[in-house]
Amino acid sequence: MRKKVTFPIILIVSVILLYGVYRTFFINFQGQDLSAPVLEGPEEISWELGREFVFSPAKHGITAKDDQDGDVSAKITYEGTVDVHTEGSYDVRYHVSDKAGNQSEHVLNVHVKKTSVVSSRQLMYADPHTIIPEIVDPDSMTVLVNKQHAIPDGWAPNDLVPITSNSERDMYLRSEAAAAWERLNQAALERGLHIWVVSSYRTAAYQESLFNGYYASNGEAAYLFSALPRRSEHELGLAVDVSYDGFLHEDLLNSEVGRFMKEEGYKYGFVLRYPSGKEAVTGYAFEAWHYRYVGPTLAKELTQKNIVLEEY
Ligand code: DAL
Ligand code: ZN
Repeated sequence: MRKKVTFPIILIVSVILLYGVYRTFFINFQGQDLSAPVLEGPEEISWELGREFVFSPAKHGITAKDDQDGDVSAKITYEGTVDVHTEGSYDVRYHVSDKAGNQSEHVLNVHVKKTSVVSSRQLMYADPHTIIPEIVDPDSMTVLVNKQHAIPDGWAPNDLVPITSNSERDMYLRSEAAAAWERLNQAALERGLHIWVVSSYRTAAYQESLFNGYYASNGEAAYLFSALPRRSEHELGLAVDVSYDGFLHEDLLNSEVGRFMKEEGYKYGFVLRYPSGKEAVTGYAFEAWHYRYVGPTLAKELTQKNIVLEEY
């Protein structure tokens, strides 16, 4: 009796073991791809009620990499619905397969809400960690990056160029902004003005250490003047902090360099990004030194209409 039960068990275990050996030594040996692509991106985002939802994975910073096929982001498909006219939480499922048919899934939870996550007064004082940002396309020269709009994780500009800065450290901007900066700087020199660049491109890691340092010394007041990593324009390689002597001055606009930047900068594509009077719109206190490259066409429009990027 005992023998009769044991025999089938031994048989089943042997078949399982032999199949395992077969997969390891035969399928893998033949180079068969057994690992699925890695799908990465944010797990949740907030979306304004009534605004058309864009499913594009790139728009939300969702990417896919496969150990055999490389970047397979272009093959990502999606399913799900987002009713932008009804407040609520919606799941969008992003899928991707590699050539061998291995599949992965990433779920993006979309919160459709009436207004932006925080009111303008809250925007200045709220802990920015509590704001779920929308992920932007960082390649555009006119991209909006602020407390509510973040750069995709891991993105960095690939066309940084060193600029004239008067600084001991090397300063970099993206190539289009750098070329415009050189023209602006040349025009300033022709008037006998020497512009110092105190800060330009920053990595996300450097921005994080800056923010943490300001938070350690200033507490929550840091929210008013320093951005979280991935939410600073400096990481775009499109922002400069300027000076006439290498130090930041709140009264920079009373100096010749400050006046030149304000009155001439837009002609080269640079705008004062955090003006006085727009604090509740930008979410930041007035910064006399922080200029953002948006290109001459948009810079002219913003300057003529006296509006900031958030209002455009
Ligand atoms: N000071 C600006 C807000 C930044 O940290 O990018
Ligand atoms: Zn700055």
